[in-house]
Amino acid sequence: MEENMERENIILKLEEKLESVTTKNDIAQVKAYFLGYDGVVTKMSMKMKEIPNEEKPRFGKLLNEIKNEVVARLDKITLEMEEKELNEKLEKDSIDITLPGRKIKRGSLHPMTRIEEEFEDLFVSMGYQVYTGPEIESDENCFQKLNIPKSHPARDAQDTFYLKDEFEKFLLRSQTSTAQARAMEENKEKGPIRIVCPGKVYRRDEDATHSHQFMQIEGLVIDEGVSMADLKGTLELFCKHILGEKTKVRFRPSFFPFTEPSVEVDVTCFKCGGSGCSLCKNTGWIEVLGAGMVHPNVLEMGGYDSKKYQGFAFGTGMDRFAMFKYNIPDIRTIYGNDIKFLEQFDRKDVD
Ligand code: DAH
Repeated sequence: MEENMERENIILKLEEKLESVTTKNDIAQVKAYFLGYDGVVTKMSMKMKEIPNEEKPRFGKLLNEIKNEVVARLDKITLEMEEKELNEKLEKDSIDITLPGRKIKRGSLHPMTRIEEEFEDLFVSMGYQVYTGPEIESDENCFQKLNIPKSHPARDAQDTFYLKDEFEKFLLRSQTSTAQARAMEENKEKGPIRIVCPGKVYRRDEDATHSHQFMQIEGLVIDEGVSMADLKGTLELFCKHILGEKTKVRFRPSFFPFTEPSVEVDVTCFKCGGSGCSLCKNTGWIEVLGAGMVHPNVLEMGGYDSKKYQGFAFGTGMDRFAMFKYNIPDIRTIYGNDIKFLEQFDRKDVD
């Protein structure tokens, strides 16, 4: 009887305590109060040794019942609390499926990458190989093998970023024409060559239309029976492809040490169509390329028999084409990495 009273008291106390729990920590404390080392139920079970033997089974059973009830109630309230927490979380985190999705911000191709790819695609379609050479180049490849010996005045415009070695043997290449020397040297059979070499070049220049670093593309074709007509046809096609079918192309005699004869190539101004404007300085024409027939000296220095083989070469600044094509007034913006400038070339189609 007395023990039953005790049982009732324990359960009442438990109920009372459980009324004020709000956290799992509170529950843990209630659990300790009843079942912990010093807990009410634990203490009650200590009484077992004082109980006469014949009473022990009954007392044990009662103890178990109390323990089970305490555990069951604690489990129940824990579960309820977890459920409540989960529901609250679900309510808070609810997803509004009618909201528009977040766009993935994609970068865009740099205008120079675009123009380079356009050039490469065209020439690859005509059977050329894309050839790349190093930006640190020997004096030999950059000048000597291109018929520009030491102290030749043609060096003046390009004689710029030498590396600090004893003999000033290496420099940052000032023209992609270096590819001519390299490609001929590498072609051990001394057979036909058809390459374009895009890449960075360096000169001591800095204004709105010149940068100390800019991009050129060089073309070289070597074969038997190559003539000026092939050069002309190729460059006409190239200019029309990049700048538009209406573009007219003209060739003016010029001088480059590594080509003979040499030409400079002008295109009709794509802004005014040839009638004259500020871009073309009222001439209707814009100079875009240097070109010519590979000089026999260059062929011979490259190990080719200049009686058997002829070649043509051309070189141009890709920045210039990018500036014309994308209407970029200052070359320095191309290399400025200004995100506002670059965003203009964003692929609008994926927005
Ligand atoms: N390398 C010349 C320059 O940077 C451009 C050039 C002119 C390249 C005539 C050629 C060429 O291949 O035949 O000014």
